[in-house]
Amino acid sequence: MRAAIIGLGAISPLHINAIQSAGWQVVAACDTDAARFERAIKMAGPSCSMYANYKEMLDREQLDVVHICTPHYLHAEMICECLDRNIHVLCEKPVAINAVQLGLIEEHVRRTKARLAVCQQNRFNASVRYLKELFRGQEILAASGTLCWQRDASYYNSAQWRGTLLQEGGGVMINQALHTLDLLQWFCGMPRTVIGHGANDTLRGVIDVEESQFGVFTMQNGGRFVIQATNACSHSFPVTVMLRSANTEAVLIGDHMIVNGTFVTRSDGHPLFGKEEWGVGHINLVREYYACLREGKKFPIDFYEARKVVELILALYASQGKEVSIRAMEANCKAALSVR
Ligand SMILES: NC(=O)c1ccc[n+]([C@@H]2O[C@H](COP(=O)([O-])OP(=O)(O)OC[C@H]3O[C@@H](n4cnc5c(N)ncnc54)[C@H](O)[C@@H]3O)[C@@H](O)[C@H]2O)c1
Repeated sequence: MRAAIIGLGAISPLHINAIQSAGWQVVAACDTDAARFERAIKMAGPSCSMYANYKEMLDREQLDVVHICTPHYLHAEMICECLDRNIHVLCEKPVAINAVQLGLIEEHVRRTKARLAVCQQNRFNASVRYLKELFRGQEILAASGTLCWQRDASYYNSAQWRGTLLQEGGGVMINQALHTLDLLQWFCGMPRTVIGHGANDTLRGVIDVEESQFGVFTMQNGGRFVIQATNACSHSFPVTVMLRSANTEAVLIGDHMIVNGTFVTRSDGHPLFGKEEWGVGHINLVREYYACLREGKKFPIDFYEARKVVELILALYASQGKEVSIRAMEANCKAALSVR
């Protein structure tokens, strides 16, 4: 099987490492910035072909799968080019940044033989899997997600696409906190409505998107889940997720878990789950995706699953303090497709 990567920036080493650890080879890679080639060649080996134009790479290499690790606004176009050639895709989050892009991807997903998967790798963390098992068959009545991170002007100035509505598609919510909202949705299901507030107080003049976002989602069962996300802190704290059913209350702080008031630990007193960062989630996700490709099985985070969190984010952005129906937002996405 032949794998390739488009976009050789910050996240790409995790993908190269994950592909290799799944027993596959990175045969080609592409970036418009040739300064990015050296590190990729070091990791993938001298036989890895380098391209500046991704369409040329897709046409010349006999690829089985492409990993898309480029700025957000390019995901939809690149996904469609791969699917048109029946090449499987593993795309970094978010799958798209607006309703038109979602519609475009759906059209291509429907007519291709290839499989599109999206890197929402926190679902593959051991602690999150434990929670999923713990709450199996239980209805979640309330939940909360908090992301309190530090991202200053130097972070946003490190790449031209960051912090721009046109290219990033939003701020803290669509980038850093997407994973937290994805977990809330995965546990609670698609909600009925959302009320959201966004703000940019400390990065005015640096970014044209929100540095902080608050959202209250009303679930199908009438309960609520809430998300609070900010990049305005002077330190990045662990993400917190809290879930409540009739019998169980779980608190996840980073990778440390408290269930019904008791720390979940091994008998030797050490945390059960150990340290997990992006890397472990990516490796688990990539291994599972490649196993699904090999065995012809459905990968759980396909386009239809990945679009849910994007629709929730678009609804949050549209809200500006008013209650927005999630179903109406889904209908808008479909309408955006039909008016194209
Ligand atoms: N899953 C996660 O936890 C996680 C973590 C970090 C980043 N990401 C995602 O990964 C993606 C990339 O983020 P990053 O931090 O690596 O960004 P980055 O800016 O460091 O890298 C992006 C790379 O894409 C290249 N590029 C731009 N246009 C291109 C084109 N037309 N053809 C080929 N290459 C092109 C740039 O030159 C750059 O090297 C984003 O979608 C981001 O949200 C995900």
